[in-house]
Amino acid sequence: MRGLFITMEGGEGVGKSTNLTFLENFLRDNGVDVVCTREPGGTRIGEEIRKLLLQIRQEKVSAMTELLLIFAARAQHVSEFIEPALAMGQVVLCDRFTDATYAYQCGGRGVAWDTVEQLEELVQDKLRPDVTLLLDAPTSVGMSRARGRGELDRFEQEDLDFFERVRGSYLEQAKNDSGRYRLINASVSLDNVQQQLLEVGGELLSRWRERSSES
Ligand code: TMP
Repeated sequence: MRGLFITMEGGEGVGKSTNLTFLENFLRDNGVDVVCTREPGGTRIGEEIRKLLLQIRQEKVSAMTELLLIFAARAQHVSEFIEPALAMGQVVLCDRFTDATYAYQCGGRGVAWDTVEQLEELVQDKLRPDVTLLLDAPTSVGMSRARGRGELDRFEQEDLDFFERVRGSYLEQAKNDSGRYRLINASVSLDNVQQQLLEVGGELLSRWRERSSES
């Protein structure tokens, strides 16, 4: 049986980490074999590339350098971690994946959409998420939460307009692929967000049980 590939997306400060752990615990408590990972990162090479990407630097990092570093980390993540886990029948919960590249690099930085499509083909072949949860909140809410966490990384230092474009791109992607996306309103209380997550969690559980019973 092939596992399920679930991704969680959203702008800065929308609560992805807390909610990913919540969903992971819910699935595990219900007997699902689940593993959690993140991008950029998820492997030793990937985590080293992540440091390079997030570090504040004196020189300007070109949009193409940034894009290729992200896909270099992804290539390693796909071959070393994601594909083997899916082949073993596990549910892979991933904090960001290629939709983040469309949102940040295309929406935020202005990289051409088809450049990312070409890299996606090259690096992932047919691998796409089965379900993507988009945690959405107004940019100002997310940014003030992120700023409250302390020192900002290279992405978090971007201005509000950048994050408005990122949010716009995510919402557009969700609209154009409503079969795969589950939109979560993250501007409400944590309890309320987790209620919404439980609905999606229930659906994931059914899909996983269906797959297990077919195999
Ligand atoms: P994080 O805040 O979710 O840990 O992600 C680190 C940063 O990396 C975040 O600011 C978004 C950025 N990023 C991209 O710009 N493109 C990508 O494809 C991914 C996966 C992350």
